[in-house]
Amino acid sequence: MKGIVLAGGNGTRLRPLTGALSKQILPVYDKPMIYYPLSVLMLAGIRDILLISSKDHSDSFRTLLGDGSQLGLNIEYAEQDEPRGIAEALLIGADFIDGDQVALVLGDNIFHGPRFSLLLEDAVRDLDGAALFGYRVRDPQRYGIGEIDEEGRLLSLEEKPRHPRSNLAVTGLYLYDNDVIEIARNLRPSARGELEITDVNLAYLAQGRAQLTPLGRGFAWLDMGTHDSLLQAAQYVQLVEQRQGEFIACVEELALNCGFITPEQCLHLGEQMRGTDYGAYVTEVASRRIPRPAVRAA
Ligand code: G1P
Repeated sequence: MKGIVLAGGNGTRLRPLTGALSKQILPVYDKPMIYYPLSVLMLAGIRDILLISSKDHSDSFRTLLGDGSQLGLNIEYAEQDEPRGIAEALLIGADFIDGDQVALVLGDNIFHGPRFSLLLEDAVRDLDGAALFGYRVRDPQRYGIGEIDEEGRLLSLEEKPRHPRSNLAVTGLYLYDNDVIEIARNLRPSARGELEITDVNLAYLAQGRAQLTPLGRGFAWLDMGTHDSLLQAAQYVQLVEQRQGEFIACVEELALNCGFITPEQCLHLGEQMRGTDYGAYVTEVASRRIPRPAVRAA
């Protein structure tokens, strides 16, 4: 399966923070925003990743992540000149996806919760059509909304409904089979002039091949579109990391756990960030995996 992170848009709702910087490179506590969605793809076992950003900001992502090889990844870059909708990412990425399945994740989404990697593993293994993930929200008018029956079957999907049939928002992580390229090619722009990801999902729903799995109550799904939600996300990450001593979206640790890099490579990455708690954490998780030479008795 291939992965796409969509980090486009003009970040207008975060001005003036985004006057010179991409929204998805802004700090969320101790790491750039893009680490969070990147970690989701890595958790799904994905190593081939296309990062789509606006033209103005693609250089900063290249500076940050390079070709991804330091994390055992293969990261490619593409540009979206204008924010013409989430589904356009599938057209921009069509050659990259080639004949494969694809996971698309929005560059400003945080997913954090128990057994998420198992959930992703199951979703990738059982993928037939589209796999979507739902999250209960208080303000369903702001999202794509899905309605499921008691057996968990998806009944309907609506983009930003005025009268929502449920509170289950469709989150910014979408897994698709290869038909998605053809589906995306047949889309027409919506009233707001965008290629809507909900229209892609509706095409799968019409074929009876769309699943919506609710992420439970203990889960955190955050997006970071406004000053308040950005700060709240940072505070959430700070709270969990300081309380548990386990870091969220530490891509170096994930690369190690996924077997993408060796403990020695991970140690090297940690040492490059010496002097920060983040660097110390990476060094520590790597050191735990490196067998210490036996201490000889005196
Ligand atoms: C987009 C999608 C919507 C989805 C949301 C998740 O909304 O259109 O279906 O629920 O992302 O963050 P937008 O960012 O366009 O408001």
